[in-house]
Amino acid sequence: MARRWRDCVRFVPRLVALGMTAYPKTSALMARGTAFLGSEYAILCGAMSWVSERSLVSAISNAGGFGVIACGAMTPELLDAEIAATRGLTDKPFGVNLITMHPQLFDLIEVCGRHRVGHVVLAGGIPPKGSVEAIKAFDAKVIVFAPTLALAKKLLRSGGDALVIEGMEAGGHIGPVSTSVLAQEFLPELAADHLVFVAGGIGRGEAIAGYLEMGAVGVQLGTRFACAKESIAHPAFKAAFFRANARDAVASVQVDPRLPVIPVRALKNKGTEAFTAKQLEVARALDEDGIAMAEAQLQIEHYWAGALRRAVIDGDVEGGSLMAGQSVGMVKSEEPVADIIAQLMAQSEVALGRR
Ligand SMILES: Cc1cc2nc3c(=O)[nH]c(=O)nc-3n(C[C@H](O)[C@H](O)[C@H](O)COP(=O)(O)O)c2cc1C
Repeated sequence: MARRWRDCVRFVPRLVALGMTAYPKTSALMARGTAFLGSEYAILCGAMSWVSERSLVSAISNAGGFGVIACGAMTPELLDAEIAATRGLTDKPFGVNLITMHPQLFDLIEVCGRHRVGHVVLAGGIPPKGSVEAIKAFDAKVIVFAPTLALAKKLLRSGGDALVIEGMEAGGHIGPVSTSVLAQEFLPELAADHLVFVAGGIGRGEAIAGYLEMGAVGVQLGTRFACAKESIAHPAFKAAFFRANARDAVASVQVDPRLPVIPVRALKNKGTEAFTAKQLEVARALDEDGIAMAEAQLQIEHYWAGALRRAVIDGDVEGGSLMAGQSVGMVKSEEPVADIIAQLMAQSEVALGRR
């Protein structure tokens, strides 16, 4: 099976050199997305903190997809080095994902500008005043997320060039609504006039075909690429993914209404259980020991600090955060990025061919 995909991958560059595509129906539906991204396929690898660094990002872009560096909590100096190193590994376009609440957001934007990054993804909240303008000042495209249709329209009106809608099947921080419902709400309203990429729970090309037919110009996947051969994730992190089924990727649970928990989808492990115990312990301390509410909330907020790094880099699969989406059940082995992309495109093409 793996051999067949590799044969297929080898064939693709020859077709491309001849100005042909191996996936005409899918490529036609992706045309607006690929024109926008400057990539061969409108398949973004969503930024994954600690995972989406130079190696994976360049591999995705070199394979015709669109890699995105996860800036996460990086300093401007670290981002500067990461962009430069990624440029050293690919001459294809890639983007940078910035978290809107980063205290040095504007310095990070400045770094992107210095490197003439073509696409900046603003994630984690509403872009602060002036951020979209600062990105546009160096002619980069701005990609935004929106959890509701009203906010999506507002962000697209105020400078967002493209939108990612991401359902709760996704790995990492999630909203409350599924990808299929978001797609039905957003695409009929927005697809004709705007560029919309769909993310969350996509593991196979048949799903890509479906969203493209609904009007999406492309898709964003994270979980499916997290354990690619080129991903630097620890072997123990990858092994946990290969073992897991969809139902193992659970959203974090809030135990007490006074102690807000931002929902994150990750593989359940000892850390998940300990987090529930911690919430009960803090709630009890609130009731019985009279600790301040702010202190209690901070204890919950800081519980997972550094946990993704511990899982991805150190391989601590019991205490770390194994962020993963429900499509994790479709991740069975370590495959080269080019094979994954070829599989997705071929599956989409076969599905469209059957219509
Ligand atoms: C391990 C992991 C880390 C992630 N980190 C980030 C992040 O730092 N910033 C972000 O915007 N999204 C992050 N995401 C979400 C991905 O960019 C992507 O949108 C998501 O994985 C797509 O859904 P899927 O997991 O079902 O494919 C992360 C996802 C995973 C699995």
